[in-house]
Amino acid sequence: MRNVACLSDFSSEDLEWSDPLDSIVVTGGRQLHGSVAASGAKNAALPILFASLLADGRHTFERVPILRDIDSTDQLLEALGCRVAREGTTVVVDVASPRDKVAPYDLVRKMRASILCLGPLLTRYGEARVSLPGGCAIGSRPIDLHVETMRKLGADIDIEEGYVIARAKRLVGDRILFEKVTVGGTENALMAAVLAQGTTVIENAAKEPEVVDLARYLKKMGARIEGEGRSIITIEGVDELQPARHAIVPDRIEAGTLLIAGAITGGRVTVEDCIPEHLEALTDKMQECGFPIETKATSVTVGEAAQWHGTDISTSPYPGFPTDLQAQFMALMTQARGSSVVTEGIFENRFMHVQELVRLGADITPMTQVAVVRGKRGGLSAAPVMATDLRASASLVLAGLVAAGETEVNRIYHLDRGYERLEEKLASLGADIRRVN
Ligand code: UD1
Repeated sequence: MRNVACLSDFSSEDLEWSDPLDSIVVTGGRQLHGSVAASGAKNAALPILFASLLADGRHTFERVPILRDIDSTDQLLEALGCRVAREGTTVVVDVASPRDKVAPYDLVRKMRASILCLGPLLTRYGEARVSLPGGCAIGSRPIDLHVETMRKLGADIDIEEGYVIARAKRLVGDRILFEKVTVGGTENALMAAVLAQGTTVIENAAKEPEVVDLARYLKKMGARIEGEGRSIITIEGVDELQPARHAIVPDRIEAGTLLIAGAITGGRVTVEDCIPEHLEALTDKMQECGFPIETKATSVTVGEAAQWHGTDISTSPYPGFPTDLQAQFMALMTQARGSSVVTEGIFENRFMHVQELVRLGADITPMTQVAVVRGKRGGLSAAPVMATDLRASASLVLAGLVAAGETEVNRIYHLDRGYERLEEKLASLGADIRRVN
């Protein structure tokens, strides 16, 4: 057991969720066929759960995925005085004013997204004490833009003993211009601004569907927001919000991972209960490679392809190619005809999966933020590999689906942070995959 300041690392509390010794064993070579449903989006559920702090009473959320990161969020909400109850994928958060407006290090270090409680606590109670999240496997991932936003809205901020300490009588609306597109920063700004005095205008806002879903919930609570999904969002502060009910938007990253799983095996897979438009950056690239793609109102199907071509991708904010699908797409490109150039445009250190894919026999040259993949159908052979972060784990599982022999993916507690029983969904499509301890 290690005790280091990295959110994606294992901590003792994780034992009840998934054993650190759990691994996934995949035997490659089976084509996947069939239909599978997407779960609710982790990255929408997290800010929306934190948004419940903005109003006392019972908030009801449907389609909340069963994940380790959601569990960490529930624990933090409970530490902040809320009662959280779950039945299946429905979660009820009963909010009452907390005694201490503190997000402690022990909880924050497990999940970076805990910083999302800063905006709601500060705007509602005029004070918040949130631990700095520390380092992370995919780069330094600072929170300066979150902190600057709160300052811009009138908060006094001190950083003391590893905590952000924020105070304000009442936040006052202002113009917030993000120097770079930040999903979490936009979400914190939105949640802070809904109870601020006057008008806030967020410029260069993130347009991700998860940000839009948060805005939808805030509006159900009585917030006055315009422009979500565009680069300028305008918020008129109100005095009070009420709890409401909301179904979380489908997880485009999980849906994309499942489509790539079908594609890499040369099979035919339909992902139901998703929003095809949210997957366009991926499905356009898959079509470019030669995969047949069919979309219906709430489903996407990838059809059989005996071979496919390599293509270049470059990750960027929505509607660009998502960084959260980069590792999985790279696994697919290891099996393509020809070379692909993969450019990571969001995070500085998000090629940790490359060395592990190479251990399986992939031909990849990583540079600072660019990797060149020389694809070849077949050519991967099983090896024990180590998951280093959430999406890297998924890419190793995908590679395992086509590697000859039994690939053992270790440290899959990373996977449980963001995928609801991925191995069960893949097994339902015909994969030879199991979790072992
Ligand atoms: C969210 C997602 C994550 C996804 C990422 C980019 C959640 C819970 N997580 O993360 O899965 O990979 O968006 O789509 O929704 N940055 C700063 N200062 C800040 C904040 C961010 O420099 O204060 C930088 C980051 O280091 C990164 C870039 O801005 O280089 C974008 O990060 P951001 O969009 O904020 O990512 P998260 O919200 O943390």
